[in-house]
Amino acid sequence: MLFQIKSFLQFLWKSKNEHAVHSPFVFHLVTKCFYDKNPKPEYKILKEYRNSLLENKNTIKVTDFGAGSKVFKSNTRQISKIAKTAGINQKRAELLFRITNYFQPESILEIGTSLGLATSALALGNPKAKIITLEGCPETANQCKLQLQKFKINNVNSIITEFGEYLQSQNLISNIFHLIYIDGNHSKKATLNYFDLLLPTVSNETLWIFDDIHWSPEMEAAWEIIKTHPKVTVTIDTFQWGMVFFRKEQPKEHFVIRT
Ligand SMILES: C[S@@+](CC[C@H](N)C(=O)[O-])C[C@H]1O[C@@H](n2cnc3c(N)ncnc32)[C@H](O)[C@@H]1O
Repeated sequence: MLFQIKSFLQFLWKSKNEHAVHSPFVFHLVTKCFYDKNPKPEYKILKEYRNSLLENKNTIKVTDFGAGSKVFKSNTRQISKIAKTAGINQKRAELLFRITNYFQPESILEIGTSLGLATSALALGNPKAKIITLEGCPETANQCKLQLQKFKINNVNSIITEFGEYLQSQNLISNIFHLIYIDGNHSKKATLNYFDLLLPTVSNETLWIFDDIHWSPEMEAAWEIIKTHPKVTVTIDTFQWGMVFFRKEQPKEHFVIRT
């Protein structure tokens, strides 16, 4: 916790708003997307999706994933409690919606579904996108499927799998993902492993969003390595997220932006 406070203070010190951004690509993203304050009808759907989970007092048996791929315990939890603690908050779900809506990615991968609070934002952001979302806990994934059906969100393919197993077993070279949202297994080793495994799926338009880059010293270390990778050009640190672009026409540049 102390680490995160220190990290946040450093972020505040370094972070800028649109006035300090000279890259037209990033300036446009910040002004037209990050700072777009106009209300959107989809925000209400995202709120209803969340509220329906928060009101759900049923319990499921949750399979927890420990460090790496080791499953270490299974326990009974209330759906409302999982929704309260495990997922993206409303403000960031709205931002994720806007980012998806702004870039209109045709093909999306989410690593870490939980109850689909972020999945719904991705799906509403581009209803024409094909979305694959990965979750290791079968009961959580099933609950998410029911919730997506309830809200008539039909463009999501939910896969129950351990992340590393899925990414290693697929022939990813034949896949292009235009947007990847990585929100599960916040360890340096796993994050860098997913980074390497997913590199063949990158196009010039691809955006990757890593959640919780300042969550721990090892996540910050992973973020530093990602930033310096030769294939990575623009990176944006929003404190909660590390955004990674591979656009060849952009000079390598790092931005720290308040959202
Ligand atoms: C933080 S939650 C995802 C939250 C979700 N993106 C949202 O905003 O609502 C992370 C999820 O990843 C799953 N998970 C963590 N490590 C995993 C692994 N190695 N393989 C498969 N699933 C894993 C957990 O079961 C958990 O549901």
